[in-house]
Amino acid sequence: MVNSFHSPVLTKEVIYYLNCKKEGIYIDCTLGGGGHAESILEKIYPDGLLIGIDQDIEAIEAASRKLKNYLDRVKLVKDNFNNLEKILNNLKIKKVSGIFFDLGVSSHQLAEKERGFSFKEDSYLDMRMDLTQKFNADILVNSYSEKDLIEIFQRYGEERFSKRIAHLIVLKRQNNPITTTKQLADLVIRALPKTKKKSWWRIHPATRIFQAIRIEVNRELEFLEKGLYQAIQVLDDQGRVGVISYHSLEDRIVKNIFKKAEKEGIGQKGYNLKIITKKPIRPSLEEIKGNPKARSAKLRVAEKIISNTINI
Ligand SMILES: C[S@@+](CC[C@H](N)C(=O)[O-])C[C@H]1O[C@@H](n2cnc3c(N)ncnc32)[C@H](O)[C@@H]1O
Repeated sequence: MVNSFHSPVLTKEVIYYLNCKKEGIYIDCTLGGGGHAESILEKIYPDGLLIGIDQDIEAIEAASRKLKNYLDRVKLVKDNFNNLEKILNNLKIKKVSGIFFDLGVSSHQLAEKERGFSFKEDSYLDMRMDLTQKFNADILVNSYSEKDLIEIFQRYGEERFSKRIAHLIVLKRQNNPITTTKQLADLVIRALPKTKKKSWWRIHPATRIFQAIRIEVNRELEFLEKGLYQAIQVLDDQGRVGVISYHSLEDRIVKNIFKKAEKEGIGQKGYNLKIITKKPIRPSLEEIKGNPKARSAKLRVAEKIISNTINI
């Protein structure tokens, strides 16, 4: 179904693998427009409870409209999933039956010109998911050292021409700060070697640079790691955690944390994490045709088995 705020990806698969129980407590850590949350609620309402978290107030507002028929069994929290344990403490909830993450930005965030995530339209370089945060893309681009810019472009964008791009940014900002998405995108193209400059690209060269800056501004990989660790801790026996990632940096973190927890546990002892999806679940060609943004999605799911309940 097309949703103007965000069309959820792999919804049927998420619901199938989360194995929602009627009376369960479920957390959607990345609420967005509430698409996945609504499908979870269709399974658990009116006996279960859904906690929806998002650090973007616009997502919380959109989801509360979307979930209006379920609101007596929903708690919406505007926060970072990095604070998962604290959020549950505040709600006096100790264990949950399932947790879901749908990483990255929503279509709404990408499409809203003022949010400054996209170079398709010219706007102020912002890229914050949490609008109360001070640090944004403008501050990053105009204050990071050349060395730090190279590092984030290489690490989070896997960009071959990181050195050339970082060098040109530092050179240009000496005269005038780079404050708009178009200025930055044009500058990325200017920094490329002559042979790589064309009038048309399958993937615009600024895509990887914008991804890198977005990841750094929102500390996406650090929070994913911390949030996922906490998710594993708060899961109840046979509770499941599902994560949809959209690029290899995210997917690698999810895969490695699941593997580590399966092999040796993470944090508190006395449990095993069983990986349910040996290979990540990918969208069907039909889904990709209807929603091209789904093409890079990968869903991984694991189940927690608390060992002292096994032999009872
Ligand atoms: C891909 S969208 C989720 C879409 C959602 N599943 C739906 O059906 O509409 C990702 C959402 O996660 C939020 N988000 C990303 N990182 C977050 C974090 N660390 N803490 C809280 N929310 C986060 C973003 O603000 C965005 O709204």
